Amino acid sequence: MNFSRCTAPLIVTIAAALASACGDHDRVVLRDPLSLPPSTCRPCHDAIVTSHALTAHARTSAPASAATILGDFSPGKNVLRTRSPLVWFTMDQRTDGSFQRARDVTNAIDQTERFDIVVGSGRRGQTYVFWKDAILYELPVSYLTAAHGWINSPGYRDGSVDFSRVITTRCLECHATSFIAERTSTGLRYGKEFQLGISCEKCHGDARAHVAWHNAHRADTVAHDIVHPAKIDRDRRMDICAVCHSGGRAQRTASFTYRAGEKLDDFLFPHPDTATALPDVHGDQVGLLRLSKCFRSSPNMSCATCHDVHTVQRDPDALSAKCLQCHQAERHRPLTRGETIALARCATCHMPVQQSHALQINTATSQDAFTMRTHRIAVYPRNTIDATR
Ligand code: HEC
Ligand code: HEC
Ligand code: HEC
Ligand code: HEC
Ligand code: HEC
Ligand code: HEC
Ligand code: HEC
Repeated sequence: MNFSRCTAPLIVTIAAALASACGDHDRVVLRDPLSLPPSTCRPCHDAIVTSHALTAHARTSAPASAATILGDFSPGKNVLRTRSPLVWFTMDQRTDGSFQRARDVTNAIDQTERFDIVVGSGRRGQTYVFWKDAILYELPVSYLTAAHGWINSPGYRDGSVDFSRVITTRCLECHATSFIAERTSTGLRYGKEFQLGISCEKCHGDARAHVAWHNAHRADTVAHDIVHPAKIDRDRRMDICAVCHSGGRAQRTASFTYRAGEKLDDFLFPHPDTATALPDVHGDQVGLLRLSKCFRSSPNMSCATCHDVHTVQRDPDALSAKCLQCHQAERHRPLTRGETIALARCATCHMPVQQSHALQINTATSQDAFTMRTHRIAVYPRNTIDATR
């Protein structure tokens, strides 16, 4: 098989790949897919496997079912109306699955597609995906947790019906463990074998040799053939998270080829030096943290300094306690008189919640942006801080 000939067009998007005239039956994913489910690790790492299963990472994609779709299918709640009275969507649960039906009377559109895969654990929301001819497409209606309601999928125009957005390999790379995209004479196809959720191997690399060794040497307590993020240098450790938490970077190679421990710049282009805009709060925690004095002045600081990714941590006040590894609250300059935010809530003032410029939802009446906590740790003007968060 000749890969080099094919790589260039394949890395951009599936749509581009579909249009290209590259040879038949070549795999877009060039390396063995990551394959071991977390249950493989349970005999020896029981506690981590149990707690990881509850995390947003583990639950970020799943087969669609009554249990995984958070939206409401009850009559009256199962409709998304738009600014046009002639365009609306209904969500239906039937014995053969859950479906979105779009009606556009003016253009005589009446299309129904199945919810096949759920993307998003539901912290903020979920987007849904359907199969058609071995390609995955985004459904036009998503779910917004804050409103407990159906919404136009992010970036979709209100009042129009669009079932044509292809789910890119890059989207799946950030929200799943493995997919195989194959090129055939009729175009690009996703393989039937894939692994949803973010599994252990995404952060620890190919674990097959590790499992084989320890199964054969039960008495050996020294780890073999596995990436321990704490034991590699900081840049490589940050790369493990940056594959998904450094925003929209252009690809050098096909999706799903990066393995933990490798140099990510060989797989994704770094952000251009000419970029002047601040990294977006949605999806670029790495870019923002890198701008912080804390990070630049602490050679060993990384995401794991504050986050234990094997467990669910949502409380910003509890995470603020991690600041005290390096700072002393007693030495903090006295806060201005009348200040109502408890000093212990470091993140409230130094990692305030800000609006995303990258993520927008269009409704019949408004354009809404998501808000996220910034990872650029700094001193912010008091009037930009929301004291409730
Ligand atoms: C048959 C037992 C066994 C299985 C199965 C197993 N491991 Fe391990 N693993 C060990 C032992 C023993 C160690 C070393 C002691 C320790 O750190 O717990 C270890 C250590 C590790 C470490 C720390 C490495 C280091 O350098 O300290 C990681 C990460 C790890 N395992 C990941 C995994 C993952 C991921 C899986 C499943 C894909 C897995 N292990 C399956 C036995 C196993
Ligand atoms: C999102 C990335 C990520 C995922 C997913 C992940 N880990 Fe880890 N894991 C890490 C990081 C980062 C560390 C190092 C933490 C530190 O700096 O101490 C680590 C450390 C470990 C260690 C060593 C623990 C220790 O205390 O020395 C083991 C064992 C381990 N992970 C097993 C697993 C298993 C099993 C799974 C799947 C059930 C898993 N990990 C999923 C990122 C991850
Ligand atoms: C394969 C892509 C991927 C990798 C690798 C990855 N993440 Fe994530 N992370 C995500 C996605 C996607 C979400 C959002 C999941 C959701 O809610 O559906 C997320 C969510 C999170 C959250 C929020 C969890 C919550 O419960 O609110 C934290 C914290 C986080 N990641 C930290 C890390 C750290 C630290 C690393 C590196 C050790 C890492 N991630 C590696 C994709 C990834
Ligand atoms: C570069 C990695 C990356 C890509 C590509 C990506 N996402 Fe995400 N996505 C994330 C991360 C990281 C988060 C959560 C943290 C954040 O928003 O900063 C997230 C959050 C989400 C959420 C909200 C999850 C929740 O539980 O609240 C949804 C839904 C989502 N993404 C869907 C998609 C879809 C659909 C695509 C592709 C069309 C996509 N994302 C592409 C990394 C990515
Ligand atoms: C690993 C150690 C470490 C951790 C953890 C850490 N910091 Fe820092 N931080 C530093 C260092 C070192 C500096 C630079 C001090 C200097 O230059 O005088 C710094 C600087 C700062 C500054 C001044 C920033 C500026 O731009 O002037 C603020 C504010 C700050 N930290 C707040 C926090 C908060 C809040 C947290 C927790 C959310 C935190 N830090 C976590 C090490 C750390
Ligand atoms: C100094 C401590 C600190 C460090 C270092 C840190 N975080 Fe966070 N992180 C936090 C705090 C505090 C929150 C807020 C939790 C909340 O409000 O739910 C958070 C939240 C998050 C979230 C959820 C964002 C959202 O609003 O949904 C993600 C994703 C995340 N961190 C990823 C990362 C990644 C990736 C890194 C490394 C680049 C990192 N964090 C480094 C403190 C830290
Ligand atoms: C009510 C908001 C607020 C809270 C809560 C808060 N800070 Fe600050 N912090 C500030 C302000 C404002 C400044 C700038 C003070 C000045 O320059 O006079 C500052 C300055 C700092 C600095 C830089 C000091 C310097 O000399 O440049 C550090 C480090 C810091 N804070 C860490 C923390 C830590 C750690 C916590 C949690 C224990 C915390 N802050 C909680 C508002 C806050």
